[in-house]
Amino acid sequence: MDLNIELKKYKNIIEDELKSIFIEKDLPQKKVIESMEYSLLSGGKRLRPILLIKSCELVGGDIKKAIRFAIAMEMIHTYSLIHDDLPAMDDDDYRRGKLTNHKVFEESIAILAGDSLLNFAYEIMIDEVIKNNYSKNYIDAMERILKSSGYKGMIGGQVVDILSENKKVDEETLYFIHKNKTAELIEASLVAGAIIGGATKEEIQLLNDYGRCIGISFQIRDDILDIIGDSELLGKDIGSDMKRDKTTYVSIHGMDKAIDDLNGYKEKSTNIMKKFNSKESNFFIDLAQYLTKRVN
Ligand code: IPE
Ligand code: IPE
Ligand code: MG
Ligand code: MG
Ligand code: MG
Repeated sequence: MDLNIELKKYKNIIEDELKSIFIEKDLPQKKVIESMEYSLLSGGKRLRPILLIKSCELVGGDIKKAIRFAIAMEMIHTYSLIHDDLPAMDDDDYRRGKLTNHKVFEESIAILAGDSLLNFAYEIMIDEVIKNNYSKNYIDAMERILKSSGYKGMIGGQVVDILSENKKVDEETLYFIHKNKTAELIEASLVAGAIIGGATKEEIQLLNDYGRCIGISFQIRDDILDIIGDSELLGKDIGSDMKRDKTTYVSIHGMDKAIDDLNGYKEKSTNIMKKFNSKESNFFIDLAQYLTKRVN
């Protein structure tokens, strides 16, 4: 298996599905639809939706059963990025290689586009629940995604991240921020896909643990790239963390340890995935390796 080919193949599946989303456009509120589309269809690695359909496949499910949930997950992630970039939060000008949403649309519209994407994600998931006769698996998958996105998950992490600006925070607080603002949605993607695919309790636990490892290391790498990354490749400006006086993995531990620890997380996630005894797990093993070295 060539990881890049596989990532491209699954990314295309996600892109095709995303493009089919906005059909009705000629509405009085079309500005917000344009704003939602601007951010949603503007690129991005599509990591979370890929993880969601891939974990469904890993446990023997058909990816078609998980594709709508994957789209919902990408909407939640995209909303979190639109809001993260707002002047009241990180105040950034570039995202996914383009001006941030609020730079193109009014700030008010950017806020509403984020809200609409979150709500639209719920609409998509509840439609799937209903279409599948209120299947327990779909309800459980939805519950996990909702909780991981909320104040005890991603939003909780964002709150502590914002409250920690201009302060020295300890290692434990930084772990709380990384776990919640970033790892939660990554874990939820893997777990939701697995539940929809009919995974056993053990398989769900393994995917949850794997998700925690790659989720934390994803944010460590993000913190590293904010210093040594290439903004062209990243599609966003570097130096944002320093500008906002954020505590990051690098500011606490230094660059060498940050890079070393990424390798530790890679080992840990590889060992978890090896327990799957399936050829399909190679994708996740190679992905863990790739994520520690990613440049965008
Ligand atoms: C950026 O996420 C926000 C973080 C959690 C660090 P991604 O790096 O996955 O952004 P896209 O979706 O590829 O633009
Ligand atoms: C953002 O973390 C995490 C979420 C959007 C939930 P960052 O603020 O570090 O992400 P970037 O660097 O702007 O992509
Ligand atoms: Mg932020
Ligand atoms: Mg940010
Ligand atoms: Mg960052």
